[in-house]
Amino acid sequence: MRYPTSTARHRRTLWLDHSRRPGWRGAAWLDSAGTLIGIAYGYTGGPGQWWFEEVRRGLAGRGPDVQFWLQDYFELTELHVRPDAQGHGLGEGLLRTLLDGSPQPRVLLSTPEYGTQPPGRAWRLYRRTGFRDVLRNHRFTGDSRPFAVLGRELPLAPAQ
Ligand SMILES: CC(C)(COP(=O)(O)OP(=O)(O)OC[C@H]1O[C@@H](n2cnc3c(N)ncnc32)[C@H](O)[C@@H]1OP(=O)(O)O)[C@@H](O)C(=O)NCCC(=O)NCCS
Repeated sequence: MRYPTSTARHRRTLWLDHSRRPGWRGAAWLDSAGTLIGIAYGYTGGPGQWWFEEVRRGLAGRGPDVQFWLQDYFELTELHVRPDAQGHGLGEGLLRTLLDGSPQPRVLLSTPEYGTQPPGRAWRLYRRTGFRDVLRNHRFTGDSRPFAVLGRELPLAPAQ
């Protein structure tokens, strides 16, 4: 995905840890030569996980109409398509494959805010597939960027 090598080295341990969590599922897209060009994965979210606790902090005091999001959800953790393969519907295909048949009734994810720029490809994909705002301009510990937490009920509506 053209991340710096140091990023992959740093995050490898985290990805491995995620792959051992309950409910982990992944989807991959290979080209005709068998080269990986896209990947998506996630797992069952729950108390004690860093992301769960960070979102719970953000939702604290906001009332029961938003607290339900943290009950029995699938966390979409990573979704990436190689830059030269973007713009052809692979991201949506991966998202649908990953979430198809999910035992959880809802899915949550976080994505950087787009600020004053027009919404980027990830935002357009999430909106197109029905994700709604759960938290906006949320600050995760250790990251200065504002993030949105988005969610929707499952299953996804069929593709248009
Ligand atoms: C976000 C990301 C995964 C989306 O992947 P993608 O394959 O480019 O996205 P989509 O499936 O939405 O397809 C992109 C476009 O192709 C169009 N499309 C859909 N099906 C198509 C098809 N069969 N043929 C041609 N185009 C198609 C879509 O309408 C969409 O248009 P738009 O982006 O102009 O709105 C990808 O851009 C990416 O890896 N970004 C960097 C990492 C990132 O931001 N990840 C998300 C972090 S939260």
